Amino acid sequence: MSLEHLEAKARETVALYEFPKAATLPLLWLVQEDQGYVSLESEAWVAEHVGVRKTEVREVVSFYTMFHTQPVGRRELKICTSLPCLMRGAGEVMQTVKDHYGISPGETTEDGLVTLTEVECLCACEMSPMGQLDEDFVGPFDPETLEATMRAAEEDPKSAQPLPEPDPYITSDGPILSKHFDAPGGTWIEDYIADGGYEAAKKALGMSREDVIEEVLNANLRGLGGAGFPAGRKWSFIPKNSEKPVYLVANADEGEPGTFKDRYLMERDPHALLEGMLIAAHAIGSNKGYIYVRGEYFRPAKRMQRAIEEAKAAGWLGKNIQGTGFDLDIVVHRGAGAYICGEETALLSSLEGGKGQPRLKPPFPAISGLFSCPTIVNNVETLSCVPFILKNGAEKFVEIGNEKQGGTRLFCVSGHVKRPGVYEAPVSITLRELIEGFGQGMREGSKLKAIVPGGISARVLTAKEIDVEMDFDSIMKAGSMAGSGGVMVMDDSTCMVEALASASRFYAHESCGQCSPCREGTGWVHRILTRIMAGEGTLQDIDDLVSIATDMEGKTICVFADAAAWPVQSYIAKFRSEFEEFITSGRKIEKEEAASCPS
Ligand code: FES
Repeated sequence: MSLEHLEAKARETVALYEFPKAATLPLLWLVQEDQGYVSLESEAWVAEHVGVRKTEVREVVSFYTMFHTQPVGRRELKICTSLPCLMRGAGEVMQTVKDHYGISPGETTEDGLVTLTEVECLCACEMSPMGQLDEDFVGPFDPETLEATMRAAEEDPKSAQPLPEPDPYITSDGPILSKHFDAPGGTWIEDYIADGGYEAAKKALGMSREDVIEEVLNANLRGLGGAGFPAGRKWSFIPKNSEKPVYLVANADEGEPGTFKDRYLMERDPHALLEGMLIAAHAIGSNKGYIYVRGEYFRPAKRMQRAIEEAKAAGWLGKNIQGTGFDLDIVVHRGAGAYICGEETALLSSLEGGKGQPRLKPPFPAISGLFSCPTIVNNVETLSCVPFILKNGAEKFVEIGNEKQGGTRLFCVSGHVKRPGVYEAPVSITLRELIEGFGQGMREGSKLKAIVPGGISARVLTAKEIDVEMDFDSIMKAGSMAGSGGVMVMDDSTCMVEALASASRFYAHESCGQCSPCREGTGWVHRILTRIMAGEGTLQDIDDLVSIATDMEGKTICVFADAAAWPVQSYIAKFRSEFEEFITSGRKIEKEEAASCPS
């Protein structure tokens, strides 16, 4: 099979990167989008173009879940069965789809039309239970939507009718981040500029780098990807007169189950991110930025690309921006299905064209990051706050937040509330106000049982612990973490054993396998929970789970193992009697083993 027709595009793609190897993932996407899968021959073609051995490309292909190494159906229907979707009926959805097509996940219908794939969280939990048909997210699945989706999957993709767009619950009047969210098609540059867009960048480009960093420091802007590290301080770590190029990377590899905010920022307000990147790049002395977008986010990646073209045409990107002498190029780089790439050093390994495996720190990326050069990696939401700070001043940002953290956040509320959605609120909002206000309380006839306040990795809180403000420090004091802002709400129908088993499957599936405590520990925890779910658990299993989790904590290259341990420890600490009762009563919940889970 000839790939001759892709030559020009391949050369153009390689030229976007400082080192050809970094074009490995884009070239693999190029062949998969053209051929439907990545054959051995295609791997060799990619290897030749990026100047590495074929085995290196093989290694990369096998690391990411989105590359097919065999032909698949003309349409791919992915069903998410991660915890927030599971809580809203993903198990039944999967069963209906399996019955309809007569196939299991990983299989293709006999006529070669539809491949069914079971996936972990697609970060669209506000529309759970949900799935993805080729590039499009679809949900929430009620019987009609599911039926329409299955019918659409059987049509030729070229002539298929577009699926109905979900109508999400969101704020569109927030003071900082969501004010353009009422543009489902994404804000165009004319509208962005008409609303004062790029004024902050203009102001920042006239300021010294130090003054811009000072302003962001004074604003008390925390890293909103999950770690909460002060953004201005991170920027200040970049060496002043670096002889090497400096890079800025927007971390758009949103993957934490229960989180779905960066998707809205990129789809609906892409210029806020670009303007934030322009200001940040000036502050750290960078002329090259990358936006690393998770592979499943087809539309956000396209919207960002569209916005980049617009910004270039309007003189807000490229050479000599607005006559200031400052240059900045930004490249959209797509991942290919690996949660671990949200960890900043794993992201950099992936961006360089390798497996997305975390690196030992120090050195921190600010000293040795992308291509061994000083690099700042900031989350999409963090960067999207920056224009407001420069335009309105740090004091205004501080005033909106509380004394510990400036500004607002986009809170992602999922699970058993009446209105799962994306809501912008000051960080001083309490968990109770989020659930009862924006979420409009629990669904009919149910009572609050538990909350995971910051994405699946955060320690679980009980219904009695919700009078806590949502800034990083307050949630930490309450024994959990604000993390990525993903608030997963569970009602009294939730089985905590099943919830933890689902979380454990996610970690076993997503461990990069580099460190033994994580690789073995996550698999072990998952196997024990699967056994308990099958009605074959013992009381000793409960203590074993806690002990395995504790042995994983703090012993690995990155915090993935810690994140996998916290749910185990906290679910058992807070709901131990439920685990005991599950085991001693001989209860069982029939579940299939995740197809790709290590065992
Ligand atoms: Fe299904 Fe997040 S999209 S759990």
